[in-house]
Amino acid sequence: MRFSQFSSAVLASCLSHASVASSKATAPKCSIDVDVAIIGGGSGGINAAIQLKDAGAKVVVIEKQSQIGGHAETYVNPETKIPANIGVVLFQGTDVVKKYFARLGVATVGTNPAATPQESKSYDFSLGIPIPAQNASAAAASQQIIAAAIQAYSQNVLSKYPWVDQGYFVPEPVPKELTLPFGQFAQQYNFSALLPVISQFNWYPGNISTIPALYGIKSLGPGLVSSIAGEFLASASGDTRSLYRAAATELGDSVLLDSSILHVQREQKKGYAKTSGVTVVVKQPNQAPKTIRARKLLIAIPPTLENVGDFDLSDSERKLLSKFSALGYLAGVADIPGLDVSLQNVGALTPFNTPVIPGSNGFYSSGSPNQFLLGVAFDNTDYTIADAEAIVRKELATLAAVGAVPADAAKTVTFPYISNHAPYNVRVSAKEIAHGFYGKLLALEGSRNTYWTGAAFAGHNSGAIWTWNEGTVVPALKKDLGL
Ligand SMILES: Cc1cc2nc3c(=O)[nH]c(=O)nc-3n(C[C@H](O)[C@H](O)[C@H](O)COP(=O)(O)OP(=O)(O)OC[C@H]3O[C@@H](n4cnc5c(N)ncnc54)[C@H](O)[C@@H]3O)c2cc1C
Ligand SMILES: *[C@@H]1O[C@H](CO)[C@@H](O)[C@H](O)[C@H]1NC(C)=O
Ligand SMILES: *[C@@H]1O[C@H](CO)[C@@H](O)[C@H](O)[C@H]1NC(C)=O
Ligand SMILES: *[C@@H]1O[C@H](CO)[C@@H](O)[C@H](O)[C@H]1NC(C)=O
Repeated sequence: MRFSQFSSAVLASCLSHASVASSKATAPKCSIDVDVAIIGGGSGGINAAIQLKDAGAKVVVIEKQSQIGGHAETYVNPETKIPANIGVVLFQGTDVVKKYFARLGVATVGTNPAATPQESKSYDFSLGIPIPAQNASAAAASQQIIAAAIQAYSQNVLSKYPWVDQGYFVPEPVPKELTLPFGQFAQQYNFSALLPVISQFNWYPGNISTIPALYGIKSLGPGLVSSIAGEFLASASGDTRSLYRAAATELGDSVLLDSSILHVQREQKKGYAKTSGVTVVVKQPNQAPKTIRARKLLIAIPPTLENVGDFDLSDSERKLLSKFSALGYLAGVADIPGLDVSLQNVGALTPFNTPVIPGSNGFYSSGSPNQFLLGVAFDNTDYTIADAEAIVRKELATLAAVGAVPADAAKTVTFPYISNHAPYNVRVSAKEIAHGFYGKLLALEGSRNTYWTGAAFAGHNSGAIWTWNEGTVVPALKKDLGL
């Protein structure tokens, strides 16, 4: 309460200077003093902002897009008004997740696509091979094999690495097996039957046979295992953005949208002794630049050099973050006239039958006629939206040749909504993991008045990101701020 009044007053004064400042370089500088400046208003940044606000901290969230929520995007079909979640849909059903939705007053429903999958037909989208559905006895046998694999995995793997949902608390010395190719690791622990499941649930986790075992395990922590056996949570409205609308209301004008960062300075500056720690200069369209003076900085954007390379990184920060590379993921809605069934992409010849990459995971009914959700994955970030659309058209031509989609689908398809989610799965090599990368990464927390959150620190799983905030980042920040 106190803060929202404070922030309104400060921001109002910034706004009133804007028109003057744009014409006169000598206009009064607009500045904001806060406890924590948060860069990135996505899953990690917004959750931390709410927790910090509740702890009595003054926060400001700096978001480059015109809405908060990061990968939680929704397309609403203009005719049917049915919302389709393009990015984030399901949350693991943990207490941390339940508490956060309850805190924001957003109703949830339990749901389990593992128990009741959407009806679909399977094809290899790159080869045009139909994959026949299993008969009931074969399906029951597969279910048994998967159940046994889950049991083996829980008993023999998760019990050894109980920290996977908490963060990358990789022990030192680094267990060698965490750097093995995941396919080999799964074979040793008798859970190979789970690999296609992991790939489907985490689309796209990388090549499931070859990613370091650490990332494979991170893609199936205790929270997901118990949700697969029990239930996931989804927003009861059917629109994941309900959560972010509630958060936006709660945070009010302490969120700065459409922001670009001009400058980040984390050294103590003369004259700012009381508040300083960090200075961030932010530009919003048609406004004078704002100078944010914060005691602490929370970086909640993917920490690649492309994103943070212009900040005042130390040599050791720069060296560490330069080790990251990422995958690509494009999500959207395809309108395919004449198609009325969901199609799943299954690799006929790949290990564990995962789809050929680059490629789609499937075309899944969005609830509106002829409209399908799609996710095109890439093994790098070096592609354009046009490249992804070309891949979908090629898949549709291949599928048309075997009668799976209308003959002209590759020509008639349109993309009412499409969005690039790169960089996705920001990770390092097995060699870097072995050399203690995660120990060094976690040592960044709190150093130079800076904290870090988001998928690179907690995995691509909102529940795990909020657990990382609640268990590690927020307690450390509160302690540092004396709250
Ligand atoms: C398509 C997709 C579907 C997913 N589905 C699920 C799901 O169903 N369930 C689940 O639990 N997890 C899901 N995830 C994984 C995970 O929940 C999300 O990836 C989550 O959004 C990651 O949170 P984050 O805070 O790291 O990043 P983000 O949520 O992406 O937040 C980063 C924010 O920072 C902003 N930003 C970036 N650069 C700057 C900058 N320079 N200045 C200011 N702001 C900047 C971005 O615009 C964004 O809003 C999904 C991920 C993707 C990509
Ligand atoms: C079911 O499929 C399996 C393997 O695909 C086959 O061996 C079996 O004969 C089939 N059973 C029936 C009842 O059709
Ligand atoms: C995996 O299964 C094999 C054969 O059943 C068994 O010998 C081995 O001990 C199992 N490995 C583990 C880690 O349980
Ligand atoms: C994953 O890597 C293995 C080994 O390099 C390769 O055989 C396989 O085809 C790859 N899988 C996919 C889906 O590309």
